[in-house]
Amino acid sequence: MGEARVNVGLLGVGAIGRIHATNLAGRVQGARLSAVADVDRAAAAACAAEFGVEAVFDGVRELVNDRRVDAVAVASPAATHAAAIEAAAAAGKHIFCEKPLAYDLDEIDRALRAVEKAGAKLQVGFNRRFDPGFRQAYETARSGKLGRLYRLHIVGRDPFVERLMPKAQGELLLETTVHDFDLARYMAGTEPLSVYAEGGAAAAAAAGMSGAAGIDTAVVVLRFPDGVIATIDNGQTAYGYDQRLELFGSKGGFWVGNETPYRALLADGEAVRSPLPLHFFPERYAESYVAEMAAFIDCVRNDAAPQVGGRDGRAAIVLALAAMRSLEEGRPVAVAEIAAL
Ligand SMILES: NC(=O)c1ccc[n+]([C@@H]2O[C@H](COP(=O)([O-])OP(=O)(O)OC[C@H]3O[C@@H](n4cnc5c(N)ncnc54)[C@H](O)[C@@H]3O)[C@@H](O)[C@H]2O)c1
Repeated sequence: MGEARVNVGLLGVGAIGRIHATNLAGRVQGARLSAVADVDRAAAAACAAEFGVEAVFDGVRELVNDRRVDAVAVASPAATHAAAIEAAAAAGKHIFCEKPLAYDLDEIDRALRAVEKAGAKLQVGFNRRFDPGFRQAYETARSGKLGRLYRLHIVGRDPFVERLMPKAQGELLLETTVHDFDLARYMAGTEPLSVYAEGGAAAAAAAGMSGAAGIDTAVVVLRFPDGVIATIDNGQTAYGYDQRLELFGSKGGFWVGNETPYRALLADGEAVRSPLPLHFFPERYAESYVAEMAAFIDCVRNDAAPQVGGRDGRAAIVLALAAMRSLEEGRPVAVAEIAAL
């Protein structure tokens, strides 16, 4: 393994950016948080001060061209990702980019061409692949212990937070289900053939939200080769982050349940109660955010290919676009109608 530390410049210090900042500054071996940028310069400066970082910028250009930066972690909103990737690649920097790569396939293809041309490494933030339970599910399926895989079932529900409800049609599929599309491809080990989606705005209606835009509740059916069927179930809950996975095959099943803050049961004359699930992504996936960044740093130091690359980021968006077309047209959509994976 190479010894030099990888100096990472962070773009975007919002909810996920703060998590990456904390991990890069102290939890990921071989990494150093060397610069911070955000259009909200005060937020960037506050983050930099907290972690003892000198270099503070308000834009991607200065960040990627700074000589204190070897690699860039992109944690700004989706609409800024493709341009940030192109700028970083042109500056000869390796890139970790949050999901989704972009909403638009042409933009993604342009960014991926820039990465290829520059010979840069690009890892996409599909952190769930690095969750210990999901990783074990993957390894169990690959080992053959489950026999022939028949079914994958993924439950991915967020706690209801009014300000985070989808603001546009398709946002749920492009921002949230995108994780599940990636997880389904990863678990199946093959590429899906078709996508069928049903959706509604049940949670917004129940909360009396007026003018809610886009679906907030969805069920997606993916058909894979050899008859493997995956279902994805998304929505919002009154009880925290509901993140479960089931693999089912000819020789057995594998279930990953919700994580709770502690393991305990309270029994009384009426019921046996367990603590609520960990509330949201910062708690539930804390370990996976460290592991995905450690994997990125390792691949930069060892000149290895990222475990989750640009092709994976693109494929998940192709599936989201197929799901959007399925919703619009009320029919299963062949993935090939959108693009080859
Ligand atoms: N992998 C995960 O589990 C996970 C969790 C949350 C968010 N995300 C993804 O991370 C990205 C950011 O989400 P968030 O929840 O942290 O958003 P956020 O709104 O909390 O933070 C975004 C930050 O980016 C800054 N910003 C906006 N435009 C910018 C630009 N052009 N250049 C630099 N900075 C800019 C904003 O000022 C803000 O500080 C999204 O793509 C989201 O889908 C991933």
